[in-house]
Amino acid sequence: MDADPLLLGLARAHYGPTAAWVQADLADPSWIEALPETVHAAVSSTALHWMSRASLAELYRTLGARTAPGGVFADADHMPLADDRLNALADAVGAGRAERAGTTGREEWGAWWEAALADERLAPLRATARPLPEADSDGRAEHHHGSNLLTAAEHAELLRAAGYRSAGTLWQAGDDHLVVAVR
Ligand SMILES: C[S@@+](CC[C@H](N)C(=O)[O-])C[C@H]1O[C@@H](n2cnc3c(N)ncnc32)[C@H](O)[C@@H]1O
Repeated sequence: MDADPLLLGLARAHYGPTAAWVQADLADPSWIEALPETVHAAVSSTALHWMSRASLAELYRTLGARTAPGGVFADADHMPLADDRLNALADAVGAGRAERAGTTGREEWGAWWEAALADERLAPLRATARPLPEADSDGRAEHHHGSNLLTAAEHAELLRAAGYRSAGTLWQAGDDHLVVAVR
């Protein structure tokens, strides 16, 4: 599920009919219509930081209500740490990992997106209106390059409030986190 037809088109081209590809805006409550009656596992990667805290809390409640007891939710994303000193150390950890993996010259999301839009071969898939980061009432998401700046602990808090019995960080390296919740 993604709001952007171009990203969905790329996924469909690579993975074909191994999955159902659904275009939906996760900040619009009608996305629930694409969900099965009972969810056993839900996974997201590097997408939910775009959502405002209020929309994310709503999404977790919607998903939690449909998730079977023992069902899981997993979210892999960049999440800030508790303060500037820890964030500086997380940056250093990220830079070290990129160097060891040989991925230092890698395109960032913005540059990748501009190149994709400029590629004529992708013209049929080009989004007419891709989703913009939502702003909280204090404008946080808007003013921080599309991140709601929620920490892993805040995600876990929202997930527990949405009815998940266990929620926490299962894996972390620098600011890369895997937050997991069990209903
Ligand atoms: C960095 S990409 C990650 C794509 C994919 N999840 C992956 O891991 O390769 C972020 C994605 O989040 C999607 N996105 C952002 N806000 C969204 C929303 N409100 N509803 C649905 N998709 C959204 C964007 O369209 C974009 O495809």
